[in-house]
Amino acid sequence: MYELLSEENHHYIEKARHIADTHIRPVAAELDRDQTYPWEIVRAMQKENMMGVWIPKEYGGRGAGVLNLCLVVEELSRACGAVGVAYAVNALGSFPIIVGGSEEQKKKFLPEIAEGRKLIAFALSETDAGSDAGALQTKAELVDGEYVVNGAKKWNTNGGAADLYTVYASTRPDRGTRGITAIMAEKGTPGFEIGYEEDKMGIRAVSVHELYFENCRLPEANRLGEEGKGFGNAMMTLDRARPGVAAQAVGLAQGALDLAVMRAKEDQYGRPALAHQQAMQFKLADMATRVEAARQLVYTAARALDAGVKNISKLSAMCKLMATDTAMQVCTDAIDFYEEWGMLRTEPIEKFMRDAKITQIYEGTNQVQRLVVARSLLKEYSS
Ligand code: CAA
Repeated sequence: MYELLSEENHHYIEKARHIADTHIRPVAAELDRDQTYPWEIVRAMQKENMMGVWIPKEYGGRGAGVLNLCLVVEELSRACGAVGVAYAVNALGSFPIIVGGSEEQKKKFLPEIAEGRKLIAFALSETDAGSDAGALQTKAELVDGEYVVNGAKKWNTNGGAADLYTVYASTRPDRGTRGITAIMAEKGTPGFEIGYEEDKMGIRAVSVHELYFENCRLPEANRLGEEGKGFGNAMMTLDRARPGVAAQAVGLAQGALDLAVMRAKEDQYGRPALAHQQAMQFKLADMATRVEAARQLVYTAARALDAGVKNISKLSAMCKLMATDTAMQVCTDAIDFYEEWGMLRTEPIEKFMRDAKITQIYEGTNQVQRLVVARSLLKEYSS
C-alpha cells in the first residue's frame, strides 16, 4: 500500500527504484555469476547521497530513519538481493556506534559512512558462536591504552569491502555475555587480516569473509560504551537492523512475484497463458497476500523504531521471521510459473530463490527469532 506512505518515503523509493533500473538489473546476473562486489552500484548510491539514509543529520546523514532505510533496501533487493544486503549491512555496522558510541566517536566515524567514503561491517559471529553469540571466543586485553585482540570472526558480510568493523570481543572471559566489549577496528591495522572469502549459493555479489586478529592493537578510544556492555550493544543493534534484512526479503519476494505475474500472462507456446488457470490465479493471490502482510509488518516495526518505542525486540524479530519465511515461500512458488524452465540457470527467477534462503539464516536464524518472540511473550504474560 504505497498510497499510505509520505512524500519523503516516496522520494527514497523513487531514487532507489531509479538506481535499481539503471544500475542493478542490467548487471545482476553477471555480478551473481562472477561473485563480483557491486562497486559501481555503491558509487551510484554515493553520488545520489543515499549511503547514510538512517544516520542522524548531526553526523552527516539524511536523518531519514529506519522506515526509509527499509524502503530503499526493499527496492534494491527487488532487483538484486545481494545488492540489497551490501547496502543494508552498513546500517547493521553503524548502529553499534549510533546506540553505544560517544559524541566524539559518532563525529569521527559516522560522517564518513554517511557520505559513503567508508563502508562498515559487523563482526559478531564466529565458527562456534553463531546463534549462541555470547559464546564468542575472540579476546581483547587492555595493555597500555590499547586492546590487544586475538581471535577469528566468521560470516562477515561486506568483509573484504568494508573499511571499518565493529568487533565484539571478550575482555573478561570469566563473565560470559557480561564480559563482551565492542571495539572499532579499521582495515589496515597491523594484526588484522581479511581472510578466506566464502563461495556462496546466493547473495553472491556481496563479499562474505573470515576475519583474523593476531595481536592486533586497537586504541582504547575505539571502545564503544563501557567494557562488558558489548553484548547488550550487539542485541540492541540487531533489534534495529533486523527490519532491514526483513525489507531485503520483502524486496526479493516482490521481485519474484513481479516475474511470476509477467510469466503467467505470457502465451505458453500455443497453449493459453497460465493466468487463465484458476489454480495459478489462486497461487498468485496467496503470494501477493503474503508479500503485502510481510511488508506491512516490516513497515510497522520500522515505524516503531523511528518513533522510539522501547521494547522493540519482539516486533523486530517477528518482522524478520515473517518476511524471510515469506520470501522463501514466494520465491519457490514463483518458480512454478516457469514450469520446467524454472530449474534453468538462464532464467532470472532461480537467483531469487537462492538469494532468499540466506535471509532465513543471517541476522539471527529464524529459530533465534522464534526464541526472541517466545521469550518476550512469556515475559509479558508473567508481569
Ligand atoms: N537489548 C538489550 N539487551 C539485551 C537484549 C536486547 N534486545 N537481549 C538480551 N539483552 C541482554 C540481557 O538483558 C542480558 O543482560 P544481563 O546479563 O545484564 O542480564 C544479556 O543481554 C544476555 O541476555 P540473554 O541471557 O537473553 O542472552 P542469550 O545468551 O540467551 O542469547 C540470543 C540470546 C537472542 C539467542 C542471542 O544470542 C542472539 O541474538 N543470537 C543470534 C545472534 C545473531 O543474530 N547473529 C547475527 C550476526 S550478524 C549477521 O548475520 C548479519 C549479516 O551477515 C548480514
